[in-house]
Amino acid sequence: MSLIFFPPPIEQITSEIARHAGVDLYVLRLDLMHPWVNGNKWFKLKYNLLEAKQKNFTTLLTFGGAYSNHIYATAAAGNLFGFRTIGLIRGEERLPLNPTLSFAVQEGMQLVYLNREMYRQRNTPALEEYLQQRFGEVFIIPEGGSNLNGVRGCTEIDRAMPTAVTERSRSAGYAYAFDHICVACGTATTLAGIALSLHKGQRAIAFPVLKNGAFLAQEVESLLTNYLASDLPSPYNSPASWELVCDYHFGGYAKVNNDLLFFSQQFTEEHGVPLDYVYTAKMFYGVMDLLKQGFFSKGDRLLLIHTGGLQGNVGMEERLQRFSKI
Ligand SMILES: Cc1ncc(COP(=O)(O)O)c(C=O)c1O
Repeated sequence: MSLIFFPPPIEQITSEIARHAGVDLYVLRLDLMHPWVNGNKWFKLKYNLLEAKQKNFTTLLTFGGAYSNHIYATAAAGNLFGFRTIGLIRGEERLPLNPTLSFAVQEGMQLVYLNREMYRQRNTPALEEYLQQRFGEVFIIPEGGSNLNGVRGCTEIDRAMPTAVTERSRSAGYAYAFDHICVACGTATTLAGIALSLHKGQRAIAFPVLKNGAFLAQEVESLLTNYLASDLPSPYNSPASWELVCDYHFGGYAKVNNDLLFFSQQFTEEHGVPLDYVYTAKMFYGVMDLLKQGFFSKGDRLLLIHTGGLQGNVGMEERLQRFSKI
């Protein structure tokens, strides 16, 4: 698969907060890998597309909300790699289409709206049968690319991390450059893939962007168990240590407040790294806050994964403007 900019750059963030904590901070810019299919989306889609091609499917069908990064990326990836795409969108059609859905249509995606009741059944065999009857032979990718193909792709994010060994990790007998890998978390697919590919001694720290995200621990366990029980390749036979930090959801999925908006804008201004409000801004905010609290040890090296999602800011900014006028 061409057109992809790999490996993506790693940028150091020089910040007074990090310096004070004695921690080195780096960002892995997966958002720069491709204009439309970037961030963790590239990794979650890769093996789904390859399986669909191998099995001679010509149509991809997937699910998402009206502002979904996954819908956006699947429409673009389908167009790039010669698939028809169908997007099942949660809720009713609203016209004019928002920027995410306009883009999806422009990339050739057929949009079909499912009421919330039907959408809830998206992972059931009954709905799958209905979809196969209605749309014919389609390759179904779950919402958010959250399946074992998605996990497999995310085990490859590790390949974008330099293997250069720091003096400290060498003397501790480890062969890695970063101690903590931080990532935003929705379905936990990306976290599972990262945990499977890290060296022992490294730790993945995930920041759920939804309220009461602790339930995701079960999701991670089940993805890891199913993955390790499958015959898919895994660099090690067990995951590295991982944890969920559930305190930075800002009220729930796609919820923001002025504090988060201000942080995000200021971070971009200071460090030249744009953040999306739904995922990466919450994770970056969380990391900076944990640094202030002394959560990390002096000498730690942190890698923050920029998982993309910037397309969503256009729709979010429009909504925020609408609300501020009410
Ligand atoms: C930009 C962005 N970051 C992070 C995530 C979280 O990834 P996951 O659902 O694999 O936990 C998503 C959702 O896919 C996303 O769109």
